[in-house]
Amino acid sequence: MATGSGRRRPRVSNPIGVFDSGLGGLTVVREIRRRLPSESIVYFGDIARLPYGIKSKEQILSYSIQNTLFLVKRKVKAVVIACNSSSSAAFRFLKNHFRLPVIDVIEPAVQSAFVGIHRNGVRIGVLATSSTIATGAYEKAIHKKDPSAKVFQMACPLFVPLVEEGWREGKIVRDIVKYYLRPIKRFRPESLILGCTHYPLLRPVIQREMGPAVRLIDSAKPTVEKLSSLLNENELSYPDSRRGFLKIYVSDLPRNFIRVGETFLGEKLHHVELVRQK
Ligand code: DGL
Repeated sequence: MATGSGRRRPRVSNPIGVFDSGLGGLTVVREIRRRLPSESIVYFGDIARLPYGIKSKEQILSYSIQNTLFLVKRKVKAVVIACNSSSSAAFRFLKNHFRLPVIDVIEPAVQSAFVGIHRNGVRIGVLATSSTIATGAYEKAIHKKDPSAKVFQMACPLFVPLVEEGWREGKIVRDIVKYYLRPIKRFRPESLILGCTHYPLLRPVIQREMGPAVRLIDSAKPTVEKLSSLLNENELSYPDSRRGFLKIYVSDLPRNFIRVGETFLGEKLHHVELVRQK
């Protein structure tokens, strides 16, 4: 299988496709709209099948292929996998089997964790879902950059439901964060990667718990930097003076959808359409 936008080159005015298991990937969309405002975006949030973070690699790969095909049908010129669990399970496959540029969130976050570090043996912590950690994708990407780097990974399964409930502060959140971070604090990392779409929303509590010396890495900014260079390299950037459109597709419309979505996106949700994935 080698697929993409057919034989013809995609037009520069075509949208960028972004997908996630739910609405967390809207943090990446928010950064695209800030950094590349003229680009249009088609987003797919697979809310009906969320969470991906506890599923097998094979299942996540299969969902990720379907999500990419859905975006390709909407004539996107590039695909951003704005989900760490999908990036860890499916990036290689999607990159090798689709003709259009595909960007993950793991490699850019890892690059960012090394910025300003000019010696070997750096200590990097990773917080992510259970399935992302099980694939070893972060560890591999870190060791590719520096085989002597020391890595400590921690799955934090309760962070996703906390954020989905809109709980980002308060005693219960602080206690749960403290519980998960205890072993990683003992490890004393220099950088700590927030390797899940939802975790950046708990950033203030995590930063307070880790202390100001630990650099927290959120993948949205480095991912969009990478997207921007890839669009330039492929002559696919759209430097227009008008703001691009944002169209959001979701596979379910749960009750708290608007509140959660707007928290991630940082603006009002418009143009949302329900599509059923089979
Ligand atoms: N989007 C997922 C990730 O970044 C988090 C939510 C889920 O488990 O589906 O890993």
